[in-house]
Amino acid sequence: MTELPIRTEPLSVGLPLLGDPDEAIRAAEELAPLYARIRDVVPEIEWPVMAPYVKRINALKAEKNAVILAHNYMTPDIFHTVADFAGDSLQLAKEAAKTDANLIIQAGVHFMAETSKILSPEKTVLIPDLRAGCSLAASITGHDVRLLKEKYPGLPVVTYVNTTADVKAESDVCCTSSNAVEIVEKIAAERGVDTVIMVPDEYLAKNVAKQTRVKVIAYHGRCEVHEKFSAEEIRGYRAANPGVVVLAHPECPPDVVEEADFAGSTSGMIAFAKEQKNARVLMLTECSMSDNVAAEAPEVEFIRPCNLCPHMKRITLANILECLETGQYEVKVDARIAVRARESVEAMLRLAPPKSASKTKPLAAAAAE
Ligand code: 13P
Ligand code: SF4
Repeated sequence: MTELPIRTEPLSVGLPLLGDPDEAIRAAEELAPLYARIRDVVPEIEWPVMAPYVKRINALKAEKNAVILAHNYMTPDIFHTVADFAGDSLQLAKEAAKTDANLIIQAGVHFMAETSKILSPEKTVLIPDLRAGCSLAASITGHDVRLLKEKYPGLPVVTYVNTTADVKAESDVCCTSSNAVEIVEKIAAERGVDTVIMVPDEYLAKNVAKQTRVKVIAYHGRCEVHEKFSAEEIRGYRAANPGVVVLAHPECPPDVVEEADFAGSTSGMIAFAKEQKNARVLMLTECSMSDNVAAEAPEVEFIRPCNLCPHMKRITLANILECLETGQYEVKVDARIAVRARESVEAMLRLAPPKSASKTKPLAAAAAE
């Protein structure tokens, strides 16, 4: 069997010590309730390195009326100790649209920050590292979508939210992994057609096509993390771990999704994993997800294959702090593109309103626990 890699590097590697060691110990003691959230997945020895960052980040957020919107792939230190809201792409978009904060710090990749800016144009949106991209977003341009529309006139374009604003601007409606089937069916019905164009994720499009009568014309984009999983690996894990429950993200190849017991968005996978009491679970997605769920559900035993998203992993406690201190890097979207991109994001929210709320409690509530 091909063994999938396992994460071995401690999270605090590369995090410089902030302040003097006595200060670090004091911060670690003061923030012990936050450490309790991650103690099952972060060794105690790492906490004094992280705690001074957590303390300063949370103080600066309050001072600047900022909110940290974190994707489910953030590492557990970010996900459980500084994020105000964490969730899948759809939940983050919804949160960005309704937050009262002046400043949004997007702990995720660039397309997520752009989506926040599109939905909250009056707010300042910052991303801690501008290089945090996405292989799907990089696989297609607005020009490519225009060519597709010329080739298939009259067919609606359903665009995965993992795209740049100029691609969204050329589209009829966006979708995420949690609502893709619903969006495809509703836009086809609304336009009275039996076929839609779905970009850019080839595997998501093929997985959706299996669940609907609507014909789906796919593009050739791939997620560089999920395309690595194979059906053969799953069969190997099942043979080695009888009874294991396998969860897959719909960006995985269709034969992988077919081998899985459940397929859904990152938040869908988290909810399903938490229900698997006393079971062994294999999550075929970015590997921080297993750590984040394990921190909250110690009774679930995770088999932890690890495919890291190099883009998501560019976001760290250190650059979140720098971002709050310096105001770098601001994400801007050309106003004309933003207006049209917003229409396709809003069309998604109209056709398939989000059903579940964001995952994390605001830190203020956590501090009062
Ligand atoms: P979700 O919408 O399921 O969170 O997916 C986003 C993503 O980038 C997965 O790779
Ligand atoms: Fe993009 Fe894949 Fe990374 Fe998600 S996991 S941000 S789809 S490259």
